[in-house]
Amino acid sequence: MQSGVPVSLAGVRRCFEGGVMAIDRVDLEIPAGQFLAILGPSGCGKSTLLRIIAGLDRADAGRVTVDASGKEYDRPRVAYVFQDAHLLPWRNVIGNVALPLELMGVDRHRRLEQARRAIEQVGLADAQERYPAQLSGGMRMRVSLARALVTDPRLLLLDEPFAALDEITRQHLDEQLRELWKARGMTVVFVTHSISEATFLAQRAVVLSARPARVVADCEIALTDDRSSELRATAGFARQTGVLLEALQRGARTT
Ligand SMILES: Nc1ncnc2c1ncn2[C@@H]1O[C@H](COP(=O)(O)OP(=O)(O)OP(=O)(O)O)[C@@H](O)[C@H]1O
Ligand SMILES: [Mg+2]
Repeated sequence: MQSGVPVSLAGVRRCFEGGVMAIDRVDLEIPAGQFLAILGPSGCGKSTLLRIIAGLDRADAGRVTVDASGKEYDRPRVAYVFQDAHLLPWRNVIGNVALPLELMGVDRHRRLEQARRAIEQVGLADAQERYPAQLSGGMRMRVSLARALVTDPRLLLLDEPFAALDEITRQHLDEQLRELWKARGMTVVFVTHSISEATFLAQRAVVLSARPARVVADCEIALTDDRSSELRATAGFARQTGVLLEALQRGARTT
């Protein structure tokens, strides 16, 4: 198993044209292989921060490092999952999942084999030949997740990926994602509005203030590593969500 890569942000600032300051002096050290959740009020700059980590946007000031720890590292090893699945409607499931490998020039036999494995891992083995229009919203997000995993990323960035799904489907996907993270050891940064989702998934949660985003709380999630669905009903889980709620309320007041 290859391990995840560490990520380091120092003094990161992003001010958009027109003077909208989205992020101001964010410092964040994410150790290799950590599962980090990012919480914050709507419009505070979470997606901007994630895009900057991914290299899809640039900081105006500060330093962003996605470290290879001396190992061979290339850009496709960072994968990004958006809130919408963004599948190509004219390609079936396997065609969508294999796309990143096709763009990397991987030969047909290998890319189909790797795509099949990723599809199996998200529980869609029976739906490989189906087209996006023939899938439910939860299945489409699973395809999107498989497409992100197919390149065996060292860093997986997810921007509210399950927010549009019903609660049961969302909980099921959260459980699957945690299992995938445990099996693969990649670094995961997961943006969410949901305190309970962050608590269930992550080892650590960072809470951002209202815009401009600054870190107002940085909490270790003090829960067992074995997070079965029963955990959600425990007192320890409720206590942990209380801590994050308090931090979010504090962050919303900070401007
Ligand atoms: N390309 C852009 N040009 C100008 N302003 C932008 C741009 N992208 C984002 N913004 C502004 O920056 C701020 C932060 O946006 P961002 O999308 O990062 O917030 P967010 O925390 O992800 O919000 P949400 O929770 O609603 O997804 C917002 O005020 C937004 O309007
Ligand atoms: Mg966003």
